[in-house]
This record gives sequence, structure tokens and C-alpha cells, in this order.
Amino acid sequence: MVSADAGFYDDEAHLYGLAFSYRDVREEVSRLAGWAREFGLGEPNSALELAAGPADHAREFAGRGARATALDLSAAMCRYAQQTAAEAGVSVEVVCANMIDFQLPEPVELAFTLINSLAHVHTLDDLVAHFASVQGAIVPGGIYVVELEHPRDFLGRGGRTTGVSQPWQVERDGVTLTTRWGLADDPYDPVAQLFHASVQLTLVQRGETRVVNTTIVMRDWTLDEVRAASRLAGGELVPVACFGDFESGPVTAEAAWRAIFVFRRTLRCPA
Ligand SMILES: C[S@@+](CC[C@H](N)C(=O)[O-])C[C@H]1O[C@@H](n2cnc3c(N)ncnc32)[C@H](O)[C@@H]1O
Repeated sequence: MVSADAGFYDDEAHLYGLAFSYRDVREEVSRLAGWAREFGLGEPNSALELAAGPADHAREFAGRGARATALDLSAAMCRYAQQTAAEAGVSVEVVCANMIDFQLPEPVELAFTLINSLAHVHTLDDLVAHFASVQGAIVPGGIYVVELEHPRDFLGRGGRTTGVSQPWQVERDGVTLTTRWGLADDPYDPVAQLFHASVQLTLVQRGETRVVNTTIVMRDWTLDEVRAASRLAGGELVPVACFGDFESGPVTAEAAWRAIFVFRRTLRCPA
């Protein structure tokens, strides 16, 4: 199923890039490379960012000398990723495709889907298809990292808090962008595990205010569902770790606020 959210990313690629520019991309890329080394791949020579958006992480990998690829469904996001890579003077191959069903001309050593972008995959069949595609896109012994929201944010007695973030603000080049991602009373479908997050971006520039409102439908994935999907896809992607943050803290820790799976593609037995 193609995500209905692609329209928003198409229309507001630049704003999205600004809203999420608060992250420490260099540090996150160092952690991704560190996990690749820790789990037997060594220094990744090629990297694939899935649902890449502005492709900040692919660009950072390219700057470190890796063959970098960024894949996204939104044509505008792909153009934006291409443009930012060109401005940075690095080479990123941008592929406009659906992460649920894709093929690459050449496999990569490291792939990753960050900041809960797997929430754009809405059904189990599609998640299985996604894992099958990733399995075919990375080399034996290659690593796939998936950053999900922490299950505490949508399961348990506290009720759902996920996506109901405090609004955050980013200021750059005379532009102030305030982002609100979800409200406590947004519709939730507990059968399909779909959260209909109302997203509001408020842009203030030269005294003028522009407000963008949209709804992003996000699937909550439990950790066992993700493990099961990788097995149903053929089982070549084996989960070797699940961290609670980019500092490799345990996912079970009280301080854990993400669920970050590291999968390793099995090495083929010699014939
Ligand atoms: C939350 S953004 C994540 C961007 C980036 N990974 C980051 O870390 O900032 C989600 C991106 O997923 C893309 N997307 C949504 N559904 C997709 C799909 N089925 N296949 C590929 N990309 C998709 C959107 O176009 C958008 O750029």
C-alpha cells in the first residue's frame, strides 16, 4: 500500500527538512557505523537510507567516503535530497521508490530506516514485503538498522502518548518553524494500530505567518511484530540487538525512549 502521506512530504519537503534538522546527524551516523563494526560488517563502504526524506544521513555517509543511496517515495523529497547533496558537494544516488517493494542495481552493506519511518508501512503484509526488499538489497553479512518509537509510548496503562510531542521550534536564516506532531485526542484505530496524527507546522518569516495542517497516519509496530515480519520475509535478516537509544542503552531500561533494531543478514553457506 502506498502511504497516503506522500502528498504532505511532496508539498512541504523543505519544511520537513527544517522541522527535523535539530538532530545530531553526525553522531547518529557514527553510531550506525559503530554498530556495523560491532556486528561483524566492518567499516561500511556503502549505505542506503530508506524513507530518506532530506537524506541527511546518506549525505553524511557520502561525506565520509561511502557509496550512498537515498530512497524515498516522494518525488519532491527526492529532488530536495538531490539538491542538498549537490550543495554539499557530495554524491548521493537518489532513488524514487516505495520502500515496501524495491530493488537496487547493486546491494549495499548497511541500510537504515530512521525516526520511526516504518510507521508509514501500515499492514503486516507490507512490512513483510519491506523486509523481503531490504533482504535483497543488502549483502550477506550486511546490517539493517530500524529506529522505531518505544513501545512504552503506545502500549500499557498510561494510554497513548506517542506522537503527542510537545511542539518544538527550529530557527534558521530568519525563519522560525514550530512543529506540533499529534494531539492527545487524535483518532486512533486500535484494531489496525493506526494513529491519525494531526500535524501542524507554523512558519514565521519576515513577519508573515504560514500554517500548514495535515494528518499523517502512523502504524504502531510492536517489537515482536517486527521480528515476526523479518522471519516471514525469509529469515535472512536476523535481529542481533535492540537498543533503547543511539547510545546503545538497553531497550528495557527506564531511560529508553526509542527501539532501535539491528538486523544482520546471514552469511550464505558455501555450496
Ligand atoms: C518521517 S520522514 C523521515 C525522513 C528521514 N528518514 C529522516 O530521518 O529525517 C518520512 C519519509 O518517508 C517517506 N515515505 C513515506 N512512505 C514511504 C514509502 N512507502 N516508501 C518510501 N518512502 C516513504 C516520506 O516521503 C518522507 O520523506
